Amino acid sequence: MAIYNVITVGDEILKSNAKEVTKFDDRIDKLIRNMIETLNEEDGVGLAAPQIGISKRVIIAYKEEEDRLIEVINPVIVESEGECLGKEGCLSVPGKIGDVNRFTKIVVEGKNKRGENIRIIATDMFARILQHEIDHLNGILFIDKAENIEEIN
Ligand code: CO
Repeated sequence: MAIYNVITVGDEILKSNAKEVTKFDDRIDKLIRNMIETLNEEDGVGLAAPQIGISKRVIIAYKEEEDRLIEVINPVIVESEGECLGKEGCLSVPGKIGDVNRFTKIVVEGKNKRGENIRIIATDMFARILQHEIDHLNGILFIDKAENIEEIN
């Protein structure tokens, strides 16, 4: 396994549409394990593959209720409701946080690393993390949406 450097704002890959995953093989399994290792090292709550330079539609998101990271491949938001403004930061945008409006509840469909269909019902913080990570797959950063941005250190 390997810990990657997280790519930061300014790199084109963060503005690109990531590619659909069509093959569910050892490479995807390895990518997810490396993403988990990188996220744990960085002490973050979510990561998308483009952030480590891999243009694939793969995300991991921390689910507090289960104290574990959930992986979703080719995630799509199929239902959404409510909205809520909340603080976000991003490993790819060091030193900044901002208030971003997100759905409070979403249903996400996608695949797990074995290529099986999964359906996730997410609320509150977990829903926020999933939306933030799915945005990364579409080349969108939280600073593109934030109502205000603060410098932190
Ligand atoms: Co991010």
